[in-house]
Amino acid sequence: MSENTSAQEKNEKKIILSGIQPTGVFTLGNYLGAVRNWRVIQEQYNCYYFIADLHSLTIHIDPQKRREQTRQAFALLLACGIDTEKSLVFVQSHNKCHAEMGWIMDCCSQFGELSRMTQFKDKSAKHPENINAGLFTYPSLMAGDILLYQADYVPVGADQTQHLEFTRDVATRFNHTYGETFKLPEGYYPKAGARIMSLQDPTSKMSKSDTNPKATISILDDENVIIKKFKSAVTDSEAEVCYREGKDGINNLMTIYSAVTGKSMDAITAEFAGKGYGDFKLAVGEAVAEELRPVRENFQRIMNDRAYLEEEMRKGAERATYIANKTLTKVKKRVGLLLEKR
Ligand code: TYM
Repeated sequence: MSENTSAQEKNEKKIILSGIQPTGVFTLGNYLGAVRNWRVIQEQYNCYYFIADLHSLTIHIDPQKRREQTRQAFALLLACGIDTEKSLVFVQSHNKCHAEMGWIMDCCSQFGELSRMTQFKDKSAKHPENINAGLFTYPSLMAGDILLYQADYVPVGADQTQHLEFTRDVATRFNHTYGETFKLPEGYYPKAGARIMSLQDPTSKMSKSDTNPKATISILDDENVIIKKFKSAVTDSEAEVCYREGKDGINNLMTIYSAVTGKSMDAITAEFAGKGYGDFKLAVGEAVAEELRPVRENFQRIMNDRAYLEEEMRKGAERATYIANKTLTKVKKRVGLLLEKR
């Protein structure tokens, strides 16, 4: 460990940890609900961000494609402005502590509480052909990810709230059974954009795995594609830009516009008073395309420098393993696993 690292780890900054699965190019939902904030908060906290490739094993992806998507996801984090001089960035499976801790967390998780997870219910309903045990114990692996680093805050979109509550429950139970071991992490949600919905079905969340390309903005879509997708977004027949119950499509577009421009809902309503949805959709599309322009440009540059990417992954894995191993060793002692003498 370098002197720099140890100085950074000793300082009093709070610890932030979050992860993202390499299941496709990040969506505007991932960006506004998570990654954009990660960039902002790295100035203030000790931030650890990782590509959750072990979690992605719960769904079937061609192995070659999974490898490529993992590389791309790592590059995307850097392209979104996550700076490896300020934040620790790594691939989950490169740090073996996650798998080991995941098993220990499995054994501290109850069947009943895992059965209540809405993500498990949704995903198993969507993919009845592959309801694997990993899908069921996914939240235990996630709890392990968070607790390994003694995270204070976990910035996530609203869809992960239940998993975070679960993590706190497991940590509380563990502390009670084995003695104080884990900090209890808190959620950290963006003011605007915690739940971005599909452009074609605004009652369900925008998701990387949506099969309808018009439903999702990928953060690498070019300007014309973005504008076209917003133009065909589902709205309503009222022609009134205001945030109100029952106007799911418009509410979603207003949420996106507000998250990107920083304008309040009232200001947006005033801006588009007397104008049609066509003008509003175009403005949203243009604002989003502008926000994502640097991401597209950075991504190509980073992907073209494979040696740089691999070196960043190697450095990230080394440091993540060093930090996580401290907690893992403590946990193994607590539960009574005999530590090997080296
Ligand atoms: P994943 O890959 O599904 O999503 C990554 C992040 O993006 C947020 N997000 C959204 N936010 C707003 N609107 C949306 N439509 C939207 N879709 C996704 C998610 O809330 C998330 O913050 N289980 C996690 C990965 C994970 C993790 C962890 C996160 C594994 N271990 C430990 C935090 C801590 C997941 O599947 O994220």
